[in-house]
Amino acid sequence: MSERVIAIEGGYKLNGTVRISGAKNATVALIPATVLSDEPVEIYGVPEISDVKALAILLKELNCEVSVEGDKVTIDPTHMKDLPLVSDAVNKLRASYYFMGVLLGKYKRVKIKMPGGCYLGPRPIDLHLKGFEALGAKITYEDDTYILEADELIGNRIYLDFASVGATINILFAAVKAKGKTVIENAAKEPEIIDVANLLTKMGAKIRGVGTDTITIEGVEHLHGTFHEIIPDRIEAGTFLVIAAAAGEKVLIQNIIPQHLEALISKLKEMGVEMEVIGDSIIVYGGRAPLHHVNIKTQTYPGFATDLQQPLTTLLTQAEGDSQVKETIYAERFKHCEQLNKMGANIELEEATSIIHGATPLHGARVEATDLRCGAALVIAGLIATGKTEITNIYHIDRGYDNIDHKLITLGAHITRYEIDD
Ligand code: EPZ
Repeated sequence: MSERVIAIEGGYKLNGTVRISGAKNATVALIPATVLSDEPVEIYGVPEISDVKALAILLKELNCEVSVEGDKVTIDPTHMKDLPLVSDAVNKLRASYYFMGVLLGKYKRVKIKMPGGCYLGPRPIDLHLKGFEALGAKITYEDDTYILEADELIGNRIYLDFASVGATINILFAAVKAKGKTVIENAAKEPEIIDVANLLTKMGAKIRGVGTDTITIEGVEHLHGTFHEIIPDRIEAGTFLVIAAAAGEKVLIQNIIPQHLEALISKLKEMGVEMEVIGDSIIVYGGRAPLHHVNIKTQTYPGFATDLQQPLTTLLTQAEGDSQVKETIYAERFKHCEQLNKMGANIELEEATSIIHGATPLHGARVEATDLRCGAALVIAGLIATGKTEITNIYHIDRGYDNIDHKLITLGAHITRYEIDD
């Protein structure tokens, strides 16, 4: 049995310019959102990632027309049908669950197989379901399949026990077509939610307070076509800030919203990384000064993003002294540490915390991408390790990073893909 790996020859300094793509975590919600419209919707700045391909399959199963021209995707739901989503395509990504909210909003019922996604510890959707029930849906679950049905959707006040990104967006999808007013309290404030609300508003939805912890929605009868450009991917941008700090000399990262990266930028400054923020770009001067250890605690936005603690861990292995990463979102999001230790890192694990003893030189090895952001952490490690690193399970990386190899080769990295025998 052979397997395709990403192979990196480490030690080459990176220089030049990289342009950040559209945000994956907005894209996987924006594309399902388009089916709430009764007319075609155009989305610009769509990243080239496998999650988009998986969503296009689901849209076609609903008899939507999907056309792709470069980074523009047009979805035409004019002849869409009220059909169950129970094919294997549903399991390719966790964000399939957004079809629960949009189909409930559009047809007042939906039948969908339990979503897949990276293993980051238990990932329930109880808050999504609680929101749908509050709007009037009856929910049954059999053979790995959810069935949601409502005679009608009536606006309600919904308090989220946890400021869940997915639950906030999914409830928004059903509420925009519910009768009357819905208030979501303790809502998540991530920028991707604001981007989704901007699209819905352009389609005719009535939404206020997005980006705060209280969102108010007045339901409407119809939503119409429009076009939308996706915000830049703050997690890809953060990943490249760390790549530049770890392996760069002078790297210009374009198409960034610096405000979305405040927590990471302040931590990198605390570590001693030299950066210049110029409008929607950041120049990172890598390798100019020794790196200091720091402590990280992941929080919901605008706190330090859980998705960035894994890539940053690789940089922390190069900082003098002991750093600590405390996870408050996904307690088990530490599978990258074992892989980094195979390359010479010295990371210990405690309860929802990693202790990174630095600085430790890294050497190439064959390592496994256990999830998307672990894959990113291993790419960064490969760039700075001596010798060759081979990363397996690279489908995780391709789910969330648009042409990462090409972007890195443009900066001077020695990175290829080839088949190995298992
Ligand atoms: C989104 O996941 C992102 N994915 C994740 O990015 C990101 O890590 C996460 O938000 C936190 O920022 C997408 O947007 C597609 P949550 P989501 O609902 O919506 C618990 C990446 O690497 N929870 O905010 O699933 C849950 O178990 C991915 O790009 C419930 O208990 O995150 C977790 O502990 C990984 N019940 C916490 O909330 C629920 O009903 C965060 O979940 C829902 C969530």
